Amino acid sequence: MPGSVIIGTQWGDEGKGRFTDYLAKDVTHCVRYQGGHNAGHTIVVDGEVFKLQLVPSGVLYPGVTPVIGNGVVVDPAVLIKELDMLESKGVSTKPLRLSGNAHLIMPYHQELDRAYERKLGKNKLGTTMRGIGPTYADKALRVGLRVQDLLDPKIFRQKLDLVLREKNPLLSRVYNRLPFNANDIADHFLAMVPRLEPHIDDTVHIVHKALDAGEWVLFEGAQATYLDLDHGTYPYVTSSNPISGAVCAGAGVGPRSIERIVGVVKAYTTRVGAGPFPAELHHGNVVADALVDRGREYGTNTGRRRRPGWLDLVMVKHAAKLNTCTELAITKLDVLSEFDELKVCVGYLGADGTTYDHVPYHQTVLHHVMPVYETLPGWKVDIEHADRLEDLPQEARDYVSFIEKFCGVPISFVSVGPGRTQTVVLKQEV
Ligand code: GDP
Ligand code: IMO
Ligand code: MG
Repeated sequence: MPGSVIIGTQWGDEGKGRFTDYLAKDVTHCVRYQGGHNAGHTIVVDGEVFKLQLVPSGVLYPGVTPVIGNGVVVDPAVLIKELDMLESKGVSTKPLRLSGNAHLIMPYHQELDRAYERKLGKNKLGTTMRGIGPTYADKALRVGLRVQDLLDPKIFRQKLDLVLREKNPLLSRVYNRLPFNANDIADHFLAMVPRLEPHIDDTVHIVHKALDAGEWVLFEGAQATYLDLDHGTYPYVTSSNPISGAVCAGAGVGPRSIERIVGVVKAYTTRVGAGPFPAELHHGNVVADALVDRGREYGTNTGRRRRPGWLDLVMVKHAAKLNTCTELAITKLDVLSEFDELKVCVGYLGADGTTYDHVPYHQTVLHHVMPVYETLPGWKVDIEHADRLEDLPQEARDYVSFIEKFCGVPISFVSVGPGRTQTVVLKQEV
């Protein structure tokens, strides 16, 4: 079985972690290929909650090798803390492989993330302040430090000295922040080496070996399609490419190694941080508040209230194409159980009266479109205990079927609660 990818089709927090965990039971390797600890992936097993930021969600199975690929940006202190957390819960983290080519998030990246946001004032992006953007920027500028540099203290200190010659004046003169001391940073980072070294590896080779042996490798996306640096709602995006095509660069495989692409769709829409959101329902709207309350829509990572809205199928359909999804997995269907009727966005109406059946490329247009809704009946019964498709009320099946027909992509799974077992496996035909 070749590579499979899990990606988010909206603005993140669709439930990628729970589906990665679900599919990981049958794989040998689970690989993160982009992003960093801006991600927050929640997995619930027998009532125990695991919140992962960097370690791939397959870590909970003893037979799975979790891999942090070259495309990820890593704060080593956060990684160590996460490893400690997992070990304290009885999860072995020994098999974790960390790419020597992954870039390091440095303290000045986090400081710059905060400084840029402050400078933007009311136009701020609402980043997670984890230093993600500045780290990827330095990678592109070719002044980044990589995990492998930790293994050569002399090189590490040299590179750090060089980069601080630019960062310190920038921080102190432009942003009025305190400069960093190269020795302090180097001492702090190099002290973590004994803990990290056993995990540092050639992850590309590991993935190739697994694929060559016919093993099933699962690539776990973080963030999502509309946070993609190229295809998302720029500039309100993250600084990596979460789309499925980015697996190739971020893990070192060619497109032909990927066969199955599972797009995770939350049964409604949420977004954290700033940026356009056509189907948004604002704070105080009854449906908005019910979605946030029932769906517990507060960031796994930053605790921020997520902005809610009805399901926007224009976005999901476009995401299915951008990622060439072979199937979709619907999450949080149970959250919709209390509504008499459900709206789904099936088109947009532009400020000048133009109608759109696709996501308009122009940001100004997207900012001003109004959603065109279709209304579907609700089911008004609890579905958390559904095991099979037949256990779902007809209205819930019709809702799922509507998504499938609109997007033209088969739906393989529906989740009806956060627990590992609250997953309904569908046949190709709903
Ligand atoms: P990710 O970033 O895409 O992995 O998603 P998050 O973990 O940030 O957010 C999803 C949240 O929804 C987590 O708190 C999950 O435990 C929860 N969740 C996932 N699937 C379901 C579901 O089917 N029903 C409900 N009620 N909660 C779910
Ligand atoms: P998971 O993997 C939701 C958002 C931030 C902000 C924008 C840029 O859990 O789905 P960044 O810190 O990346 O520079 O912030 O991206 N963002 C996420 N939103 N889920 C995530 O990850 C996110 N990672 C980043 O809120 O709007
Ligand atoms: Mg999340």
